[in-house]
Amino acid sequence: MGRLTGKTALITGGTTGIGLATARLFLEEGARVAIIGQDAQRVEAAGKELGEGVLALRADVTSAADMVAAAARIRALFGSLDVVFANAGIAQPMQFSDVDARHIDSQVDVNFKGVIHTVQCMLPLLNNPASVVLTGTTLAEQGVAGLSVYSATKAAVRSLARTLSTELAPRGVRVNVISPGLIETPIYGKLGLPPDAVQAWAGQLVAKVPAARFGQADEVAKAVLFLASDDSSYMMGENVVFDGGMATL
Ligand SMILES: NC(=O)c1ccc[n+]([C@@H]2O[C@H](COP(=O)([O-])OP(=O)(O)OC[C@H]3O[C@@H](n4cnc5c(N)ncnc54)[C@H](OP(=O)(O)O)[C@@H]3O)[C@@H](O)[C@H]2O)c1
Repeated sequence: MGRLTGKTALITGGTTGIGLATARLFLEEGARVAIIGQDAQRVEAAGKELGEGVLALRADVTSAADMVAAAARIRALFGSLDVVFANAGIAQPMQFSDVDARHIDSQVDVNFKGVIHTVQCMLPLLNNPASVVLTGTTLAEQGVAGLSVYSATKAAVRSLARTLSTELAPRGVRVNVISPGLIETPIYGKLGLPPDAVQAWAGQLVAKVPAARFGQADEVAKAVLFLASDDSSYMMGENVVFDGGMATL
C-alpha cells in the first residue's frame, strides 16, 4: 500500500521541475493527481507523461477565475482533495536599482497571490484532515544579490503558512512549507539570462553548497511526500529546508 493510497492531490506548477517530479511520486504512492500549469503545451506533455489517470489542467494561478474553474473540474472528477501542493513559481533576477513595478507585480502575482488563490479556491474541496504544502525557498532567509523581489515573495509565503496554519487548524488542515535550495530544474532556463551567464552564476552558487552539488527534483519530491502524507501528521506551520546544507552550515 502506498503512502497516499486513496488520497487525492493537486499540484500547481506540476508540469515541470519539482512539481512534475512530485506528481510522479504521488502517483507511485497511490494518489489520484491533478496538475496545473499555465503553458498549454507543457500541460499536455506532462499529462501524457504521467498517464491517463492524471487530470492535467491549464490554469494561471494569478487568475482567480482560472483557479475557480480548475476547482470545479477537480470537484467533478475527484469530489474532494486531501493534498494541495501550491508550488507554481517564477524567479526573475534583477539588480535592485533596476527593479520596477512590472518586475515586482509579475513575481508577487505568481509567487504570492497565486498561492493565496490556490489555497482559497481549493479550500471548499479540502477534506478533514488535509495537508497543504507551499513552496518557499532558502532565499527567504538568505541574501543573494539580484534576487530581492523573488526572495521577498517567498518570505511572504513562509509567513502565510504560519497564519493559515492557525486559521485552518480547526478545519483539520495542516499547512507547511518546503524550502528548496539549489535544485536542477527548468527554472534556470527561464531566468531571462544567456545560458553561459546562467552557468557562471550557478557555478558561483553551488560553491556555497556543502553537499557540493545541485539537488534533484525527485529528491525534493520525497520531502514533499512526507509533508503531504500522514507521516507528518503532527507538523503545522513548519518550514522544511532542503538545500544540501547551504543555508544552515
Ligand atoms: N529550482 C530551484 O533551485 C528552486 C529553489 C527554491 C525554490 N524553488 C521554487 O520551486 C517551485 C518550482 O520551481 P521549479 O524549480 O520546479 O521550476 P520550473 O520547472 O520552472 O516549474 C515552475 C512551475 O510553475 C508553473 N507556473 C509558473 N507560472 C505559473 C502560473 N502563472 N500559473 C500556473 N503555473 C505556473 C510552471 O508552469 P509553466 O511551465 O506552464 O509556466 C511550472 O510548472 C517554484 O515555486 C520555485 O520558486 C525552486
